[in-house]
Order: sequence, then structure tokens, then C-alpha cells
Amino acid sequence: MPGLDVAVFGATGAVGVEMVKILEERKFPVNSLRLLASRGGRSMEWRGRPTPVEAVGPSSFEGIHTALFAVEGDVSREWAPVAARGGAVVIDNSSAFRMDPEVPLVVPEVNPEDIAHHKGIIANPNCSTIIALVALAPLHRAAGLKRLVASTYQAVSGAGKAGLEELERQVQAHARGTTAVASVFPYPIAFNLIPHIDAFDEDANTKEELKMRDESRKILRAPDLRVSCTCVRAPVLRSHSEALTIETERPLSPDEARKILMNAPGVKLLDNPAERSYPMPLYASGQDLIHVGRVRRDDSVEEGRNGLVLWVSGDQLRKGAATNAVQIMEKVSETLRETA
Ligand SMILES: NC(=O)c1ccc[n+]([C@@H]2O[C@H](COP(=O)([O-])OP(=O)(O)OC[C@H]3O[C@@H](n4cnc5c(N)ncnc54)[C@H](OP(=O)(O)O)[C@@H]3O)[C@@H](O)[C@H]2O)c1
Repeated sequence: MPGLDVAVFGATGAVGVEMVKILEERKFPVNSLRLLASRGGRSMEWRGRPTPVEAVGPSSFEGIHTALFAVEGDVSREWAPVAARGGAVVIDNSSAFRMDPEVPLVVPEVNPEDIAHHKGIIANPNCSTIIALVALAPLHRAAGLKRLVASTYQAVSGAGKAGLEELERQVQAHARGTTAVASVFPYPIAFNLIPHIDAFDEDANTKEELKMRDESRKILRAPDLRVSCTCVRAPVLRSHSEALTIETERPLSPDEARKILMNAPGVKLLDNPAERSYPMPLYASGQDLIHVGRVRRDDSVEEGRNGLVLWVSGDQLRKGAATNAVQIMEKVSETLRETA
């Protein structure tokens, strides 16, 4: 088979635009590309040519081999089964199917073997989960993760195109001496931090925090992993950062952890405090590697226990969403092309 017939659903959104770019950058063997969104009448550039965006409909996935979904969960829930029934392999970025035991939840650097068990739908994990696990999985393999405490600093583009536009609007209004109202976020995000992403549950955790806990357990196959998260929206345009405090079964010194991370797939170690070298979202943006640094001992653990602290930054639109999905699709396409 010379190439695959591919659809990108949600092509006009923050993640979809990146998907189209990354398919081209990574020279994915696309035979034909169908761009889908809520409405047509627009075009996007693909291989240097304007390509029409179509409104999604019952025949949108006919003849499609693989479909990248970058739409909200309720839209995925409606259309992913339609595409999968028609024979396409769907890689879905929403939270709709992530905890379904029948659906593999995959970070290719961590659990690529799970892809083989798919039944038409493969889920891309939450962006903060991907960014944390690219750094933590190699440490887990070396020393066994027992406990994770994560505090996130999440960029506004994590809330899509509208989130990005809201921060830009508020910053411009501030420069003019006026204020722009908040509509995407519950409070002004410019010059602020909002410890509230997605809905609260009855225990006062947010869904975003629970996604990180549940998805990490599923991907690492560590159902007993103890996780506590605080997810915070920060006035950063792009790339999420996370402070990760871990406790491991076996001892792991900061030097050993750095050695492991230096050779870990998908990781760029930036950890030289004397040279002011550490991860920052501005510099992780536009890249696929997760930047890891500030590796140090956690002295707050009890005597005889093993604690480490790390700081990571990663482009959540690329590795936290679009790149991860395209990497999965690359692995799926190897099988599809072999069996064609
Ligand atoms: N942003 C991130 O950093 C990030 C990271 C990981 C995962 N995700 C997930 O990826 C998905 C997309 O997020 P995003 O940030 O790209 O959102 P976005 O910027 O708001 O884009 C949403 C896309 O969905 C389309 N759409 C909206 N309602 C639709 C409907 N009823 N029918 C068909 N298409 C519809 C939009 O098309 P129109 O242009 O026609 O409205 C647009 O292409 C979400 O599930 C999100 O949770 C996002």
C-alpha cells in the first residue's frame, strides 16, 4: 500500500492544526487527507496547497484507514464508533474512551505494546499525564514508583484556541488600561493562577486531577500507585510545566535518576543549576522532547524511604496531544501496511 487515507477531525482547533503540521513534518505516508470540523466553507494548508475543511457527516469516514480525533468528548463519543465501524482506526484525544478497559491508552515511549490490543479506537492520554509519564516511566522501571505528588502549571492553549485568544485579549486590554471579561476561564487568567481545571467532584478534586491519577495507573499498570495532584491554569500561552515529587520502592539517587533520564526516549535533560539550566515552558514550546530538570532528593520523606523531586516542561499541543497521536498512528500504519 503506497500510503494511507487519513482524516483529521477537529482540524481547525488548537490540536488539529498541530496534527496536520506534524503529519507533514514527520512525512507520514498520507495518500489522501480529509479535514473535518463542525462546518465547512474554509480551507487549510496541506503540502503547500489550500485543502477544504468539510463538515463532519455520516459519510465522512468512508474509505478512511486512520482518523485522528481532536474534538471534545461528547463529539468523539458520537463519531468515533461510526468511524471505527466503517473500518478506520481512530486515535482519540478526548477523555471519552481513556478509561475504557477495551481501549488502549498509549504513550509510545512507555507502553507501545498496548496498541496491538485495539478494537478500532486508541486513546491519547491527557496532556499533563503524557508529559509526566515520559519522564517518570524510566524511573518507575528502574526503582518502582510508589507515590506521586504532582503540581501542574498548565498553559491556556490547553483549553483550546479559545483559551489562547482569551489570554491574548486580556493582556492587550491590560496594556490599554482596560479589562477584558473572562469567558473561557472562571476568572481573569492574565497575571493570575487558577487552581481549577475541569469540574470538581464531591471530594473537591477536579476531573483534570483525577484523570492524571487514573490514567497514570492504567498506562504504568500500577493500580496501587498513590497519586495526589493539584492542577493549575497559568498565564502561559503554550507548554505545561509540572513539579513532580515521587517516592520509589528502591533507592534512586539524583545522579542515578539523571543518568537514566539522559538516555530516556522522548526526554531532554536540562539540569545544571550552576549554569541556570532548567526546563521552562517558553523553551519547551514547538518541541517534541519533554524537558526535565531540577532533579533532587526529597528530604521530607521518612528515614529509610526514597524520595525525589523533578521539574518538567513539555509542549502540550505537540507531545501532549498531536505528536503523541501521530506516533501512535505511525505504529498502527506499520501493521496496516504490512497486512494490506
Ligand atoms: N489543547 C490541548 O492542549 C489539548 C491537549 C490534549 C488533549 N486535548 C483534547 O483535544 C480535543 C481538542 O482540543 P482543542 O484544544 O484542539 O480544542 P479547540 O481548539 O476548541 O478545537 C475544537 C475542534 O473541534 C471542532 N468541533 C467543535 N464542536 C464540534 C462539533 N459539534 N462537531 C464537529 N466538530 C466540532 C472545532 O471545529 P470548528 O472550527 O468547526 O468549531 C475544532 O476543530 C479535546 O478533546 C481536548 O480535551 C487538548
